[in-house]
Amino acid sequence: MANLWVRKPLSQLLAQAEDSEKGLKRTLGAWNLVALGIGAIIGAGLFVRTAAAAAEAAGPSVTLSFIVAAIGCAFAGLCYAEFASMIPIAGSAYTYAYATMGEFVAWIIGWALIMEYALGAATVSVAWSEYLNKLLGGAIPYEWCHGPMEDGIMNAPALVILLILTLVLIKGTQESALLNAVIVAIKVSIVLIFIAVGWQFIDPANHTPYMIPEGTPGHEGMFKHGWGGVLGGAAIVFFAFIGFDAVSTAAQEAKNPGRDMPIGILGSLAVCTVLYILFSYVLTGVANWTEFGGAGKEASVAYAIQHHMPGYEWLATAVTIAILAGFSSVILVMLMGQSRVFYSMANDGLIPKVFSELHPKFRTPYKSNWILFFFVGAFAAFVPGSMAGDLTSFGTLLAFVLVSLGVLFMRRSNPEQHRPFRTPLVPLVPILGALICLGMIVAIDPFTLKAAFAWMVLGFLVYFGYSQRNSKLQR
Ligand code: ALA
Repeated sequence: MANLWVRKPLSQLLAQAEDSEKGLKRTLGAWNLVALGIGAIIGAGLFVRTAAAAAEAAGPSVTLSFIVAAIGCAFAGLCYAEFASMIPIAGSAYTYAYATMGEFVAWIIGWALIMEYALGAATVSVAWSEYLNKLLGGAIPYEWCHGPMEDGIMNAPALVILLILTLVLIKGTQESALLNAVIVAIKVSIVLIFIAVGWQFIDPANHTPYMIPEGTPGHEGMFKHGWGGVLGGAAIVFFAFIGFDAVSTAAQEAKNPGRDMPIGILGSLAVCTVLYILFSYVLTGVANWTEFGGAGKEASVAYAIQHHMPGYEWLATAVTIAILAGFSSVILVMLMGQSRVFYSMANDGLIPKVFSELHPKFRTPYKSNWILFFFVGAFAAFVPGSMAGDLTSFGTLLAFVLVSLGVLFMRRSNPEQHRPFRTPLVPLVPILGALICLGMIVAIDPFTLKAAFAWMVLGFLVYFGYSQRNSKLQR
């Protein structure tokens, strides 16, 4: 009889970590990790979803949405940091859960992480396509940069960038720390320049009323106006924080993981939070939030500069180019994260072996990368970015809830285990982390929630139909 709660012994995980360590060099210091985090974090969430959240739910109070989302992330991040320092092995939340809450929960997280990484990559590539079209002055015909759900045919540019980055991944070009640092510098500078320049163009009238008033047409739902809208907005902009957990996948390359992993995770989160709050304040001050539902719906930042910051047209172009480069690195990290999670799951026997087969020459999981390309590509080409984005938020939030609870379990099951970093104020922090993330899940648009549940049900079918029978741990 299979056991749903079978746990991978911690000792086995740590032995695996030591084993695979032989190949990896410990070269990353705390600042490299912070940079890695920022490289993975700042992307479509800031440059596309901020405006969407303002238009759909929060209005100018999207700034508060960022604060709510940041608090949820900070609590979950503290829990991630404990795990990442204790189990310094690549594989992230899925691996942590396998050791703490057992195979079934690990499966749920693994399945949810597909939404985070794969659909996250799809969302950012759709955003990439928007900004590319902006750069080209709208030269791409509408039907070739929108899917059928938006009256188009397919989003071709999104597919092209995915293909290019898939090829890069298969070739196994390690994203070097230097290249990442350059991209991070560009992204952060652009955000800072936008804040500094935009500040002078803030029109206080755009910030009043601060929340979308009740009775505004099209904003009838509970999470579409007032304080409910702040929470609804948080569920949308939460996307902008996704990626700090990617730092946890570099645990085996950290010089001093016990000290540096928490700094990497929490440091990148802190830097981004400050930037996001200022950025959203300026963006909703420069343009009126209602514009982001209409003419400024796509490539909103470039739109705001072009229409409201006279004399700074060059900035719109610079921002667009920086965004295209920045998005590429986010997509790359997400595709890579997904193939790593697949790799771990395939090694554990939960998904077919093809996901862990390595290329004879490049030593990369190339078959997995191709399968992923078709899966992610289908979403990028045919599903609107907003829907893929909300699904991404759902999957990530679910993983965060489970990781937070995992800390509580682990404190009980392995109290003796050495924890270089301890989540403070347990059980308060994990419980609050789980609750705030649950609150954001509830505030996600109902249609998306249904799609997400369907995805999870499919996951249960796969688990009971395939994974449980093929699990190495069960045998
Ligand atoms: N946080 C990443 C972004 O906003 C996923 O693009």
